[in-house]
Amino acid sequence: MLAHLLRLKGIASVVIESRSREEIEATIRAGVLEQGTVDLLNEAGVGERMRREGMRHEGVILRFGGRSHRIPLAELTGGRAITVYAQHEVIRDLVKARLDAGGMILFGVKDVSLLDLDTRQPKLRFHDAQGTLQSLDCDYVAGCDGFHGVSRPSIPSRLRREFTRVYPFGWFGILVEAPPATEELIYAYHERGFALVSTRSPQIQRLYLQCNPSDETGQWPDARIWEELRARLSGEDGLRLSEGRIFQKGVIAMRSFVVEPMQHGRLFLAGDAAHIVPPTGAKGLNLAAADVRLLAQALAEFYASGGAQPLERYSETALRRVWRAEHFSWWMTSMLHHFHDETPFHHRLQISQLRYVAGSRAAATMLAENYVGLPFDET
Ligand code: PHB
Repeated sequence: MLAHLLRLKGIASVVIESRSREEIEATIRAGVLEQGTVDLLNEAGVGERMRREGMRHEGVILRFGGRSHRIPLAELTGGRAITVYAQHEVIRDLVKARLDAGGMILFGVKDVSLLDLDTRQPKLRFHDAQGTLQSLDCDYVAGCDGFHGVSRPSIPSRLRREFTRVYPFGWFGILVEAPPATEELIYAYHERGFALVSTRSPQIQRLYLQCNPSDETGQWPDARIWEELRARLSGEDGLRLSEGRIFQKGVIAMRSFVVEPMQHGRLFLAGDAAHIVPPTGAKGLNLAAADVRLLAQALAEFYASGGAQPLERYSETALRRVWRAEHFSWWMTSMLHHFHDETPFHHRLQISQLRYVAGSRAAATMLAENYVGLPFDET
């Protein structure tokens, strides 16, 4: 995404990727795009397939006490909405557009190190896919290499501060061959644990249920998954899941994490390299997109006029949106999950919070504007 945005401003870049094209295009990840992410993909000229195949959702369902409560996202936010379009589809579109435009993406790169970051000429050193040692002189390095990447640890530890919260549960995610059960996503609170009904296409559904973070897929045979999903989504209204063949299973860890600052010398971190959110707010991909939008603007300003202020302020500006999303994701997670050490007092608070969000226009608007994504200049 960053490479595309830079190209639109006439700035050259090289993308260094540790995995293969096939691997990144097949990895199942997020699926919800904020309005601003959709707009950004369209503006960058890579939104054509998303506009055709993505599904716009103007509302989202909170379910508790055996009933569904709709939050009318578009109505509460002046027409903003989310689009369900899988992250690996976004990746496919971006990679194709980049290669078609003659852009350079080096796949299968190993042993990357970042050198001389606090000089005017930082360097990357790595083994390319053929195993040849390569060195690349850069003006700037964007560290978009995820939570386990090499970029963040390249900032001296005395110059960074990290904030972490690990949740005592995970999500068990499945992909199912079935038609959608509902028109909108369902976030369900239940004493047996959280459940989420999402979708990928008219033929494929994405479902999640709260599980033990150390669970392995072998502990979840299909029958147990359906039994648990049915129980957590049950109610007087007779909501029916559409069941079908489960063809993918996986456990997702739940963590909140932020590093400050998100820059050091000529290195700028973006996305999971700098911050992690639990998936409950559907913010991870969207925050990454917001980071690179900001970084592309700052680099464009520098190359156009020599103005370095937006670059110098990158971390400060980005972190405002990051912390908003951190709070929203933590809040959604806290409201919707069953905590094992939870007292009856805490449980009553969760139910009260859910009733308030479902019943108050002000509270629902707070959820809605965060969920569809705040306008970029309001964070
Ligand atoms: C998904 O469809 O993968 C999805 C949807 C909503 C979330 C998280 C994941 O909050």
